[in-house]
Amino acid sequence: MTRKIKIGPSLLSADFANLALEVKKCEKGGADLLHCDIMDGHFVPNITIGPLIVEAIRPLTKLPLNCHLMIEKPEKYIEDFVKAGADMISVHVECQNHLHRTLNLIRSFNIKAGIAVNPLTPLDYAFEAAEYCDFILLMSVNPGFGGQKFINSSLKKCETLANFLAQNKLKHIDIEMDGGIKIKNVSKIVSAGANMLVSGSGIFEGDVIQNIKELRKQAESENGRL
Ligand code: DX5
Ligand code: ZN
Repeated sequence: MTRKIKIGPSLLSADFANLALEVKKCEKGGADLLHCDIMDGHFVPNITIGPLIVEAIRPLTKLPLNCHLMIEKPEKYIEDFVKAGADMISVHVECQNHLHRTLNLIRSFNIKAGIAVNPLTPLDYAFEAAEYCDFILLMSVNPGFGGQKFINSSLKKCETLANFLAQNKLKHIDIEMDGGIKIKNVSKIVSAGANMLVSGSGIFEGDVIQNIKELRKQAESENGRL
């Protein structure tokens, strides 16, 4: 059974001085969601945006805002991101002592909850937490920066997760893959089982509208073959 392909431009690579225009281009290209990378300078070396910018983006679009929290103690900030307009929030398993509590907290606001897993973090957390998740984000680069090279071992990991979800009647859970995704490698990512595809530099470098369309075309043609 093929799964719905969802394209999520990562705004990290957008022109922040012209965010409204960039968001419009994402809509025109047919994006399914907007991926917002939240970094705190502790969990990852970089610092990016907080709820203030998410709140500024919210009135610009009806697209779901997918907030990827790369921050320590994410549970302290969930409510702030919900108030800012997040529709989906993922938290990293590597900085969580109380994952179950945090996922329940996210869902208590009637938005989608997800976990994010670094490239070399074992999938055990995902197996354990899957039933409390609406999506599972597999990092295919080390979080912190856009424009990095796709880590190939993420493909096997993605297949393992996709098989687990299929075997456990959990196929409604989206597999989001994030990092180094481009038009040229998206086919193998879809064939490994990912259906929610985040791309930053692959979309914002060049013609945003065309890049989204081409990314979707490649992804859907592979999805159709499966
Ligand atoms: C990395 C971020 C990604 C990143 C993706 O820490 O989580 O979302 O912006 O950018 P590209 O597609 O350029 O790897
Ligand atoms: Zn991200």
